[in-house]
Amino acid sequence: MNKYGRKILADVDGYTPGEQPREGGFVKLNTNENPYPPSPKVLEAIQTMDMADLRKYPDPMATALRRACARCYGVPGEDWVVVGNGMDEILAMALRAFVDPGDTIVAAYPTYTLYEVLCRLHGCSLNYIPLDDDFQLTPEFYAARGRLCFLTRPNAPTGVAYPREEVKRFCDAFKGIVLIDEAYVDFGDDSCMDFPEQFDNVIVTRTFSKSYGLAGLRIGTAVARPELIREFVKIKDSYNLNTFSQAAGLAAIEDQDYMKMRTAQIRASRARLRDALLDMGFLVPESSSNFLLARWNGTPSAAALFEALREHHVLVRYFPQPRLKNALRISIGTDEECDRLIDALRDIITR
Ligand SMILES: Cc1ncc(COP(=O)(O)O)c(C=O)c1O
Repeated sequence: MNKYGRKILADVDGYTPGEQPREGGFVKLNTNENPYPPSPKVLEAIQTMDMADLRKYPDPMATALRRACARCYGVPGEDWVVVGNGMDEILAMALRAFVDPGDTIVAAYPTYTLYEVLCRLHGCSLNYIPLDDDFQLTPEFYAARGRLCFLTRPNAPTGVAYPREEVKRFCDAFKGIVLIDEAYVDFGDDSCMDFPEQFDNVIVTRTFSKSYGLAGLRIGTAVARPELIREFVKIKDSYNLNTFSQAAGLAAIEDQDYMKMRTAQIRASRARLRDALLDMGFLVPESSSNFLLARWNGTPSAAALFEALREHHVLVRYFPQPRLKNALRISIGTDEECDRLIDALRDIITR
């Protein structure tokens, strides 16, 4: 620890993002990016921007983008939406707005590992409640108490979407804020976007990084009742979404046909890849996301598979944590990319 560093940082390692290789030639199935480019309307919006405007600060409230999001999400107006520099910023903002140091946060385990880092940085304790063997929420989870609950639906890295009606009952019973992380919702069958209108304690968060293929522009949103959105606005950086991202996000969300076309392609590739993995002996829960969690009890170990795939220039994600160390998380690529993975795996397993 650095002698000038804050005490709270002494045993915090920070979040480890998936690898972004410097050299080309890799099949990149490790960070749940979209294998397809964003809507052509995004490029058009950026190309037709007046570059002279870049000398001015962006709209601090990203009004046009928030209005379009409200329309697309089916909520009453833009005062129900706040935007952030990626959903990761929105998650950190939620702690700053609603959680005091020392408070308890509830989350299922395993889930998105950033929550744990954010809790540590914020000085609050995280009550991790294990999922059952099918990666579903348990009665202990539904009875949990805390200041805020991160509920990830579909969950990462399992891909499982918990039953909507059970999540609804939980929102009704939980005394604190329920933040429903819907990063992957566009790859599944249903959403909880109607919950903020029904409950005063629910925040639904989304990202443009996955279904809209805009991970590089860092755009995330939170939807909640205006009185909760006002708390977010109090703590947000004034200009947290840059001019390019506001224009690109607006073009992307207004092109729902393109997003739906791409997510349908990814869902079809997901079904095809899952069949191939099941065929090879992996255990793969049904996924509502743009990735699969492939559990492996054979030889070589999942850690060795991960390394061997890397040698074949195929990147997937390996988590050494309990309950995940016998698994690989594989993002859905194009069918050609999935075939490269399948061929490499067959080669490694039968070697
Ligand atoms: C569950 C979950 N939530 C949020 C995010 C962050 O999204 P963003 O790229 O908008 O920061 C991710 C990214 O992988 C994720 O897996």
